[in-house]
Amino acid sequence: MTTALITGASSGLGEDIAKQLAERGLNLILVARRQAQLEALASSLADAHGITATPLACDLSDRTALNGLMAQVDTVLAAGGDTLTVLVNNAGTGFWAAFADQDLAGVQRDIDLNVTALTTLSHGFLQHARAHGQRSYLMNVASLAGILPTPRYAAYSGTKGYVRFFSEVLDYELRDSPISVTAACPGVVMTPFLDSAGQNVKKQTGIMTSPEVVRRCINAMYAGKVVYVPGLLNKFAIYTNLLPRRLRGWLLERSMLVSVEARPDASR
Ligand SMILES: NC(=O)c1ccc[n+]([C@@H]2O[C@H](COP(=O)([O-])OP(=O)(O)OC[C@H]3O[C@@H](n4cnc5c(N)ncnc54)[C@H](OP(=O)(O)O)[C@@H]3O)[C@@H](O)[C@H]2O)c1
Repeated sequence: MTTALITGASSGLGEDIAKQLAERGLNLILVARRQAQLEALASSLADAHGITATPLACDLSDRTALNGLMAQVDTVLAAGGDTLTVLVNNAGTGFWAAFADQDLAGVQRDIDLNVTALTTLSHGFLQHARAHGQRSYLMNVASLAGILPTPRYAAYSGTKGYVRFFSEVLDYELRDSPISVTAACPGVVMTPFLDSAGQNVKKQTGIMTSPEVVRRCINAMYAGKVVYVPGLLNKFAIYTNLLPRRLRGWLLERSMLVSVEARPDASR
């Protein structure tokens, strides 16, 4: 059976990615820190779709735990005689505030998760995909903030820019192989991410739902799209990159403030 490894599967986009790949009949390995959520999701998807779903609790920002994860994945695959053909690097965090005001340890954890973990797991996945030679898909969840340098998200936007460039180059390097790489770049999506990033939703304007974003991103992944931005408004927003930098920064900050505000009690 073909198996998908999904990080950040305990909530938000990752949970919907797990549900929608289970509907397509893939076996799943689900990774995040919260074991109870992963176990509940794994057993409900296994019951509903007759697939195998294995929860692997792991703090991906911990280098030792991260380096041991692919060995655990190998054990799960070997036990089921399965082949890893899909990796969705979805786990990611960020905090919406001026960079100099942010807690440095939190920023370092964001970089460890958004960049180091994603890069490490991509490397592990490619060893599998090259060895078995089957059609394989790597989807890295970046963000519109990886295309547009987004005010109050200096480090987060930087990590997502890394994810986009990394994915584009990988896809090029793998052009003669059966492996495609997709950078999914959603705009604002209604998930617990907004709360963790220190935001309160004021208005739903321009905010997409998680199942809809995931449906579009999975289709893009299977279509082999390299950089994919879900939603017309978000696609249109990319043109702000043509504006002078200060004007672009002002416009991006204003447009974010239409739908969200900083939560006064927010901290990390
Ligand atoms: N929501 C948006 O507006 C939006 C827009 C663009 C891009 N994105 C990106 O979409 C991805 C998914 O975010 P989401 O919106 O679905 O938010 P979410 O609901 O907060 O999901 C984040 C996931 O990452 C996991 N995670 C966080 N820290 C982790 C760690 N150290 N080790 C392992 N897993 C960890 C969380 O699980 P545990 O807490 O159980 O570990 C959770 O499953 C992220 O990469 C985010 O940057 C989100």
